[in-house]
Amino acid sequence: MTNIVASITLEALNIGDALPYFQRALNHALTKHPPPYSYNNFASNYRQLAKKPAWFAGLLMSDADLEGYSAKQLWAYSDSLADPDFAHEMRRHARDEGRHARMFGGLLFTLFPHLAAEENREKLQAMAPKLVDSKAPERKTTRAVPIEESLNSAILINLHEIKALILEQLLTPTLAAYAEASDRRSVTQIAQRLIQDEVEHIRYTAEYIEKAANSGYQEYIMEAVSDFQRTLNQVTLGDLEQSQSLVLEGL
Ligand SMILES: [Fe+2]
Ligand SMILES: [Fe+2]
Repeated sequence: MTNIVASITLEALNIGDALPYFQRALNHALTKHPPPYSYNNFASNYRQLAKKPAWFAGLLMSDADLEGYSAKQLWAYSDSLADPDFAHEMRRHARDEGRHARMFGGLLFTLFPHLAAEENREKLQAMAPKLVDSKAPERKTTRAVPIEESLNSAILINLHEIKALILEQLLTPTLAAYAEASDRRSVTQIAQRLIQDEVEHIRYTAEYIEKAANSGYQEYIMEAVSDFQRTLNQVTLGDLEQSQSLVLEGL
């Protein structure tokens, strides 16, 4: 049986029978440790909370923050990867997340224009790094990490991106519901772009995982994907409790 989150992910990736080992390891992990966002009550709780404008605005703000933080982390971490293709993909990923931080900021001000004060704009600008790969030809690995470490990172990123995909799919109808009729089309397009990018982030990490599986890491991957999913579930449950009490000041 395929776990619902695994089905959504594989359908979005549209890879058919490709990346077979990744597909098996992912389904095994998600079936063994179903994430909180695979349950129906997660979506209904989310919709309940999202009816509160203060909560929803706070969510968009924290999404911008998280995307910006990930952008900086990925950008820095890419320097320690021995595989130049994986490093290149990770830098592209970092730039995407920097852009996502700005997109979430834009969504926040479109849906809640009264929050677009200079102070909030500056806050959001500080969250969203502009990463320019101007020194690309000279970039070199300063500290090549062992394959197990880069593989762990690929798995962790992959599972986080799957979570991002599911949450952004939930976010889309709420964004549309808050938007003025004149903004609805552009707001929905932004949400679709976010989702497309997350799918690409799942794809390049899945390809790296498959490559490692083909060089002898099959058992390691099967276990690690499962272990990381279990840990991610614990983090998600903690975040859920916190986010329910999140209220943006000034609303
Ligand atoms: Fe993102
Ligand atoms: Fe992403």
